[in-house]
Amino acid sequence: MEVVIAPEAQLAALAADAVERLLRVKPAAVLGLATGSSPLRVYDELARRHTENGLSFAAARGFMLDEYVGLPADHPERYRTVIEREIASRVDFAPGAVQGPDGLAEDLAAACATYEAAIADAGGVDLQILGIGTDGHIGFNEPGSSLASRTRIKTLTRQTREDNARFFGGDLEAVPHHCLTQGLGTIMSARHLVLLATGRHKAEAVHQLVEGPVSAMWPATIMQHHPHATVLVDDAAAGRLQLADYFRQTYADKPAWQTI
Ligand code: F6R
Repeated sequence: MEVVIAPEAQLAALAADAVERLLRVKPAAVLGLATGSSPLRVYDELARRHTENGLSFAAARGFMLDEYVGLPADHPERYRTVIEREIASRVDFAPGAVQGPDGLAEDLAAACATYEAAIADAGGVDLQILGIGTDGHIGFNEPGSSLASRTRIKTLTRQTREDNARFFGGDLEAVPHHCLTQGLGTIMSARHLVLLATGRHKAEAVHQLVEGPVSAMWPATIMQHHPHATVLVDDAAAGRLQLADYFRQTYADKPAWQTI
């Protein structure tokens, strides 16, 4: 696991560099797309590179991490809508190239199985962008999630619903209780994981992710088993890392030819 501690704008540029490098060598790459606040600067940077430098997503595919259950199709916080707004509509993905789990399906379990199959049919995710919840979730794999789980229905913790109430005008009751999420096993099947975390409220989750014992109590810790995981954090989110000095030194000494 590589940990980079840097200012937020630099983190976004590093993540965008990784996506750009991938698309240049593999235009038909499969990208894993997170929602929430953490990836927004990355999406801004990718949209900028598309507009100004011609970075193309025309042959690429995108798979969302998760979706709320039951939010109407026209709801502004439905993740399908958010991904469309924040990235898909700003670059040149082909129509239908970005998919998400169907939180409005009549048979939610079947929708999860269909989604797993779609990811597999696409050849798996090449680069997965991730955020982390204050309770250590990735995707919406809340504490107690099976470390081998695949896409399924989950119940959100009160903590996550409180954290996300800001997207619903601060109204906790408006935040759905249920979601469909790629499982930890699904996420671990991606070839490169790039997780972004900023702010002091993420410091404990980041400490557990990087330095804690691997445990379903902090689901993101499963990333310690991934062969290519990159954790991009600002000073505040790195605030509890015991190895912060080592990570800073390692990044300062990183050879110019070595990418994340
Ligand atoms: C979003 C997702 C979640 C968020 C996490 C952090 O698709 O899967 O794991 O990444 O809740 O959210 P933010 O970035 O809003 O702090």
